[in-house]
Amino acid sequence: MSFHGGNIVATAKDLGCDVNDLIDMSSNLTPLGAVPGLHESIISSLDQIAYLPETGSETLVEKFAEKYGIKKNQIMAGNGTTEFIFALPAISDCNRAVIVNPTYSDYRLACEWQQLPVDNFILKYEEKFCLNLEKLSSQLKGGELVFVCNPNNPTGVLTASGDILQCAVENPDSTFLVDESYLPFTREKSLLHYELPENLYILCSFSKIYGIPGLRLGFIISFVENIQKFVGQRKPWGVNRVAQMSGEFLLDHGGHYQEEVVCFLEKYKNNFVQQLNNINCVDVVPGNANFILCHLRGDISVDLLHTKMLEKKIMIRNCNTFEGLEDHFFRISLKDERSNNYCLLALQEILGTECE
Ligand SMILES: Cc1ncc(COP(=O)(O)O)c(C=O)c1O
Repeated sequence: MSFHGGNIVATAKDLGCDVNDLIDMSSNLTPLGAVPGLHESIISSLDQIAYLPETGSETLVEKFAEKYGIKKNQIMAGNGTTEFIFALPAISDCNRAVIVNPTYSDYRLACEWQQLPVDNFILKYEEKFCLNLEKLSSQLKGGELVFVCNPNNPTGVLTASGDILQCAVENPDSTFLVDESYLPFTREKSLLHYELPENLYILCSFSKIYGIPGLRLGFIISFVENIQKFVGQRKPWGVNRVAQMSGEFLLDHGGHYQEEVVCFLEKYKNNFVQQLNNINCVDVVPGNANFILCHLRGDISVDLLHTKMLEKKIMIRNCNTFEGLEDHFFRISLKDERSNNYCLLALQEILGTECE
């Protein structure tokens, strides 16, 4: 089964309220809301829904290629990166998957759909969920499809891109899928800027950084021959016309917005984390993303905390569906300053503060 945060429409229905009454700290979207000009651009492109989209999103792919200095036949645009997470186990000739867990649950689901056996490489709370690539390497024999989310969801832990690249180079008989959905929230250099080895795929989602999960737009980047394998498999018109045009707009105008998001996090996150750490029974896992993983000690369960927060119309992510996390973790995504303060206040009211 697939588990996600951010199901705001269903939550509003359950609570009998309007979506606008809810503060969604459960989905890992940009804290800054819509990219300036995007909505206007979408409105002005609406008449284009009378045309078919470009079959392979050619204009969009060319723009992406130009922006990152990559060949256009190394890139494919899709209906969110989800499309590629589910496609890769089907087209790869790997004989097992290795998933660095706890992580995004759809990797496992995608493997299960293709009956690809999965082994977990479990990260530990006691080790702050840091990824030891040497240890991971030592468990690879060749023939694996290795899923690495960087920074990882839900831990927020970032691994240096260069180290992941080196690990891929040192294990040429294993295939690496590196999901950079949350990398634009950091200052870490994307693998897009490196020369890619043949056994590496990169996922780049526009959903999170630009706050457009409802539009569905993501990319996969790899060696030309690898991308060719996808071309043979995919249905035409995988990206709708509005998403194509929005993607083109974001490639042209999204750079400044992205920098603002990173600056916002640099300005507000440390203080938010400190205040979270001052709340009774809450320990923050040090991370480097727009969301924060928290460990809950003591008698109160995360289920109960989740329910009590919902009573205050705040959605947090109960992490009990993540492999290796079980009952004691929840995740909060930073939003605008007002929502962040409201969330802290609600947590303080429910759990109390350590200085009380
Ligand atoms: C790590 C990770 N990868 C991929 C996705 C899917 O994103 P997209 O909207 O690009 O399909 C998500 C969504 O939550 C995610 O957390």
